[in-house]
Amino acid sequence: GRRVRIHHLQQLKERGETWPMLTSYDMYTAQIFDRAGIPVLLVGDSAANNVYGYESSLPVTVDELLPLTRAVTRSAERALVVADLPFGSYQGSPEQAVATAGRFMKEGRAHAVKLEGGRHFAPQVEALVHAGVPVMGHLGFTPQSEHRLGGYRVQGRGDQAAELLADARALQEAGAFAVVLEMVPAEAAREVTAELDIPTVGIGAGPHTDGQVLVWTDMAGMNTGSTARFVKKYADLGGALAEAAGDFAADVRSGKFPAAEHSF
Ligand code: KIV
Ligand code: NA
Repeated sequence: GRRVRIHHLQQLKERGETWPMLTSYDMYTAQIFDRAGIPVLLVGDSAANNVYGYESSLPVTVDELLPLTRAVTRSAERALVVADLPFGSYQGSPEQAVATAGRFMKEGRAHAVKLEGGRHFAPQVEALVHAGVPVMGHLGFTPQSEHRLGGYRVQGRGDQAAELLADARALQEAGAFAVVLEMVPAEAAREVTAELDIPTVGIGAGPHTDGQVLVWTDMAGMNTGSTARFVKKYADLGGALAEAAGDFAADVRSGKFPAAEHSF
């Protein structure tokens, strides 16, 4: 079918329709989510934790994310594919942001990029948009700033709600096509969503945002550890895989596999 474009997301907002977004880091999930009708796939820097085994998103590099981005763009026929700009690859200057995004668009064939931060990164967003790169913003709890924010904590409570709205407005003004709101009170997210013309995408931001995003490994239960309160687990893939691996191991040890029908 036809590729999802940023103006389609804008139309959904104008019609008051909510839409889903999932992370994807490889061919199978990109194909499956694309065919399931997920209109936007994010090659998140959460690949740091979910592909590479890092303890946070900070260590992952552009060179590590590019092949994952290319796998997803090769595999999704319809979804708009957004690539996360990792920590340290855009904060330095608008020029650095354009150079990094250029690699994600040329080598990764991404359709858009996402970066974290508010009004202080408006120059980056503006430069990218002028260079032809659609930009998704990311506000609230921004994992790349974990150490400055003092850990995983809800942002935008009380007086901070006005700051959140000012940052969201600055991103819209700079030309962003959407803004992720992570771990903010539902009421603050509702206000930002109502005030902005561009769509908001919530994660731990309550029910009033235009879109909802989850990390696919959390959503599908690949993650065996504890997950955040805002995650809903729609499957137990981790459990299913552990069972499959255990059954395979038992069959090999007992001689049940391979059987005659698996042999030449
Ligand atoms: O990297 C990621 O998975 C994200 C989403 C949580 C929005 O940035
Ligand atoms: Na991210």
